[in-house]
Order: sequence, then C-alpha cells, then structure tokens
Amino acid sequence: MLQVIINGQPTQCEPGQTILSGLRSVGADVPTLCDDPRLAPIGACRLCVVEVDGQARPVAACTTPLVQGMVIQTHTLALEECRRTLLRLLAQNYPAKALGHDPLSPFHRLICAYGLEHELNGDSHAALVDDSHPCIHVDMSQCISCFRCVRICHEVAGQDVWRAWNRGDRTEIRPANQTNLRDSDCVSCSACVDTC
Ligand code: FES
Repeated sequence: MLQVIINGQPTQCEPGQTILSGLRSVGADVPTLCDDPRLAPIGACRLCVVEVDGQARPVAACTTPLVQGMVIQTHTLALEECRRTLLRLLAQNYPAKALGHDPLSPFHRLICAYGLEHELNGDSHAALVDDSHPCIHVDMSQCISCFRCVRICHEVAGQDVWRAWNRGDRTEIRPANQTNLRDSDCVSCSACVDTC
C-alpha cells in the first residue's frame, strides 16, 4: 500500500492508481467534468486540480499517478478559486434554461455549488441543434467541451461518429461527416448520450 497524506490525513491507497481514483477510494473527492471511469483520462476540464507538495503548479488529479509519500491538498482557497473561474468561463455561453430541465446533472450541480447560476448567459441557437436522428436530440449550446462523447464513441463503441473541430474556445463537436447525425455512421448505441 502507498502511504500518502490527503488534506493533512495520513492515508493508505492501493498502488497503480491516479490521484483521482486514490482520492475516491478513501472517500475524498474533487469536482470533475471530463472524467468518466470507462475512458482514458485526458485532463481537459482542469476542475480536478489538486496541490501536491513539491510541484510548482496544481496538477490534474485524473491524469497524475499517485506515488508513495505524496502530500495532497484538494480544496485550498486557490484551488477553489481556480475551479470557480473555469466554471464561470463555461457558464458564459451556457443557456440558463437548461439548468431547470436537469438540475441534477453534474455540471448543473457544480454551477449551483459555486454560486454561478446567474452567470449562465448563453442561448440556444438553431444552428447548434441537430434533430435529424430518430432517437438522439443534439443541442450543442449545452456542450462544455469535455470530449466524453467523442471519446466514448471511439474507445467504447468502436466508432468515430463524433469529432472535435478547431481548438480552445472555437472548439466544436460535430459528426465527422460534417452533415448531421442521421447521415453519419451512428449505430444508435447511445453511448454518447449516456456519458453526456
Ligand atoms: Fe481531470 Fe477533467 S476530470 S481534468
């Protein structure tokens, strides 16, 4: 077992884990958006950042291996301010009405937990809605660029229907065929819906 210190508490964790899985294995946790235990971690959302003694900057808990002797802080003021800033950036373009439709979604719960409900300033645009598929309604005005749909389609479903176009705040997730979901190679497995 690895001996680590989490928020001042000496703790034992199984070796071979990331910091995030180690935290969760002992009942600690940090907010996450791009994490899905079925998928390889990519460290995209940065909400899971933690402070580790000896590291100059916070590290993503989902992509950083847990090692013997680590001293980890999960909720310092600086970390919480960093998370609030990241969520605030996502809130800017996110439609407020979505919050009422699904208040228990992880993103919506985080928005409320960090007191950012009134900073949801986005709108639903017709250009971001794809209703072509008989079972899957797509509204990319609610996309938070966690890439879970792209990753689960590729890694779990073995398809490559979804693709990320552009980078940074110009990132768009669209079917790889550049038309709509109905005309794509979608096999209707709904893995993307499940992770979203
Ligand atoms: Fe670690 Fe998103 S959960 S970066």
